[in-house]
Amino acid sequence: MVTGAVFADLGNDVIGVDIDQNRVDTLNSGGCPIHEPRLPELLKHNLREGRLTFTTSIPEAVLKSEIIFVCVGTPPVEDGGTNLSQVEAAATGIARALNSYKIIVNKSTVPVGTGDFVREVIEKNGVASTDFDVVCNPEFLREGQAVRDTLQPDRIVIGSASEKAAKIVQLLYQALNAPCIITDTQSAELIKYASNAFLATKISFINAVANLCEKTQADIREVAKGVGADSRIGPAFLGAGLGYGGSCFPKDIDALLQASRKLGAEISILEAVRAENDNRVPRFVQRIIDRLGATSRLPLEGKTIGVLGLSFKPDTDDMREAKSIEICHALREAGAELRVYDPIATENARRIIGDEGIEYCQSPYVAAKGASGIVIVTEWRDFIQLNLNRLKTEMVEPIIFDGRNIYSPEQVTDAGFEYFSIGKTPAKP
Ligand SMILES: NC(=O)c1ccc[n+]([C@@H]2O[C@H](COP(=O)([O-])OP(=O)(O)OC[C@H]3O[C@@H](n4cnc5c(N)ncnc54)[C@H](O)[C@@H]3O)[C@@H](O)[C@H]2O)c1
Repeated sequence: MVTGAVFADLGNDVIGVDIDQNRVDTLNSGGCPIHEPRLPELLKHNLREGRLTFTTSIPEAVLKSEIIFVCVGTPPVEDGGTNLSQVEAAATGIARALNSYKIIVNKSTVPVGTGDFVREVIEKNGVASTDFDVVCNPEFLREGQAVRDTLQPDRIVIGSASEKAAKIVQLLYQALNAPCIITDTQSAELIKYASNAFLATKISFINAVANLCEKTQADIREVAKGVGADSRIGPAFLGAGLGYGGSCFPKDIDALLQASRKLGAEISILEAVRAENDNRVPRFVQRIIDRLGATSRLPLEGKTIGVLGLSFKPDTDDMREAKSIEICHALREAGAELRVYDPIATENARRIIGDEGIEYCQSPYVAAKGASGIVIVTEWRDFIQLNLNRLKTEMVEPIIFDGRNIYSPEQVTDAGFEYFSIGKTPAKP
């Protein structure tokens, strides 16, 4: 949707195809099926201008197009590998409709070698190798700022065995004036996985250092500031917290680990990255239990806890691999009643987390009613601006467990709260 809307905005004719009729109907009627800043306006504008349409018909789109982007899901399978069935189905559909030379661009995140797989699928369906080229053009956008990232990318990566095809795809991006890396297909495929794996490594590394800070008088924010000031390291992705979630990092790290193992060149450091990440929520919940719990089978029985933030990150309603799911389940298992709030993701969250022992609230202050602790799970801007005095008057025990370090300890303790943050010993008023 985002890529299509931006290409249309740059003046191209774009036809979006999805097998989901509801999604196509919503889009054709001017709606936007996900929460993503700036996307609804961009979709509506280009729909009105007639440059953007949506259909469920692959043949209709293929016949009219010169360049075909495959952006389907590539979910994980049990052993950490990648399920390529959506890619295979899309490639088959394209092959059956192909009427002249086309460029097929793989934008989905796929294991190294998938370009060759797509080529094989298309040829198996009777298309001559001279009638198409395959290009790998991985996507680096971040949910919550997807339109901005698409308009101002750090780089555009284009991998292909065909110089001609790579040049045509590069032309499509020309108006963005972004650095362009033209390379072979397999390097392009690996650039995407390696980038995500490196970012995840940074996150797990700083989280592991945060664990050490909690055992000392050091403060992870100060440590990260000092470390990030080194130009060889940089400050991004050094915010300690509850670990990475979402639809990309967990599956991409697993997929790279599994693929490297299969090929006999295991990137074993990723085992440690994953283990640290898997341990973030259990460790955080244990701190809550240690502070609030009784020594019984259900240590939080009789306690009410407010949970702020449900989506996997701010500015999205995406709940895939959101830390809130694991946290809510763990707190419920410990016997707590939950009052939860999210500015956007409530309905999606309810479908995944359920209703049992959980009250979905209309505001952070309502979520705080009768609570013995507030847990910050997602760093929505709204939470940084909370009126802490008002929040405190709603609560039974004024304690904040901040899983994203959105407050400074002084700010919270001055307002009369006990404050547990990541990578620092607890602070008292
Ligand atoms: N979401 C992100 O932030 C992000 C960022 C970078 C890369 N990616 C990658 O992009 C790909 C898509 O991710 P997503 O989050 O948009 O997934 P998604 O599951 O939200 O969307 C995929 C869409 O493809 C449709 N689809 C499935 N099979 C189809 C077919 N044969 N023909 C037409 N449509 C079909 C589905 O109905 C769905 O609407 C994945 O490989 C992902 O790793 C995602």
